[in-house]
Amino acid sequence: MEQIAYVNGSFVPLSEAKVSILDRGFLFADGIYEVAAVLDGKLIDNASHLARLERSVGEIELALPETTARIQEIQKELVARNDLVNGMVYLEVTRGADTGRDFAFPKNVKPTLIMFTSTKDIINAPSAKTGINVITVPDLRWARRDIKSVALLAQVLAKQAAAVAGAGEAWMIEDGKVTEGGSSSCFILTQDDVIVTRQNGSEILPGCTRKAVVALAEERQLRVEERAFSVEEALAAKEAFVTSASLFVQAVVSIDGKKVADGKPGPMTNRLREIYVEFAKATAV
Ligand code: PDD
Repeated sequence: MEQIAYVNGSFVPLSEAKVSILDRGFLFADGIYEVAAVLDGKLIDNASHLARLERSVGEIELALPETTARIQEIQKELVARNDLVNGMVYLEVTRGADTGRDFAFPKNVKPTLIMFTSTKDIINAPSAKTGINVITVPDLRWARRDIKSVALLAQVLAKQAAAVAGAGEAWMIEDGKVTEGGSSSCFILTQDDVIVTRQNGSEILPGCTRKAVVALAEERQLRVEERAFSVEEALAAKEAFVTSASLFVQAVVSIDGKKVADGKPGPMTNRLREIYVEFAKATAV
C-alpha cells in the first residue's frame, strides 16, 4: 500500500502529495517543522512538540492554518491511515505560495501545512545498544537556532560529514563549546555524577526530549547543570549522550575517533533511556 501524506486539508498518496514551486518553504526556507515520535501507534510528548511549533511560528510571525488541537487530530489520522506502529510524524508549515518571489511577507496567502510519516523502530535501534560515534564540526548556523526552521543546510553538511566519517552524528562547536548535535541535544555525565547539558537560548534548539530528560532526572534527585561544555570536557567525562525525538536517549561512545570513557554506553545513559521510554509510553496519546 502506498504511504499516505497530508497536504493542505487532504490525505493523498505520497506520490500525489505536492506543493507549488513558489512555496516559500521551497524558495526561502520560510517555514517551521516538527518531528514527533510514534510508539505503538501513539504520539510521544506531542504537547511539547506542538507548544514548540506554536512558539516557532510566533517568532517568525506565521499564523498556523489550523489549531494545534486540529493538527494533533490530523497527525493521529495520518498515523492510522498509514497503519504506523513505530516511527515518526513529520510536519511542516510554511508561509505558503505567493504569485512570485518577493522576500517580504505576502498578503492573503494561506500557509502550507504538510505531514508525512516514516517507520523506525526507535526502541530496538541497534545504536541504542552500541552507542554512536560522533565527529565535531564548526557550527555554521544563523543566530536564531531556537526557532525550528526548515533552513537546515548547515546540519545537512554537518551530518553528511559525519556519514562520510562513518559517524552517526555531528556535534557542532562554537567558541570552543558544543552547541548541539546536527539533529540532537548533547549531554555529558561528569566524573562527579553531574548531568550537564547546554542551557537553552538562541544558540540551540530547545529540545523536547532534552526538556523531558532534564525534568525526569531532576524528579529522581539526579544532579543536573545547564551550561555549555567543551569537547575536552566530554572526553574526560564518565558518559556522553544525545537526545532527540527520533533517538530518545543514545550513548555517544567516541568523539572524533577518541573513546568516551571505555567506549561503551554507560549506566546513567542506559538508565535515562529506560526512564524516558517509560515516560514516553505512559504519556503517549
Ligand atoms: N531534530 N537540536 C537540533 C538541531 C534538532 O534538529 C533536534 C531535533 C534536536 C532535538 O530536539 P527534540 O528532542 O525535540 O527532537 C536538537 C529532529 C528530530 C529532526 O530534525 O529530525
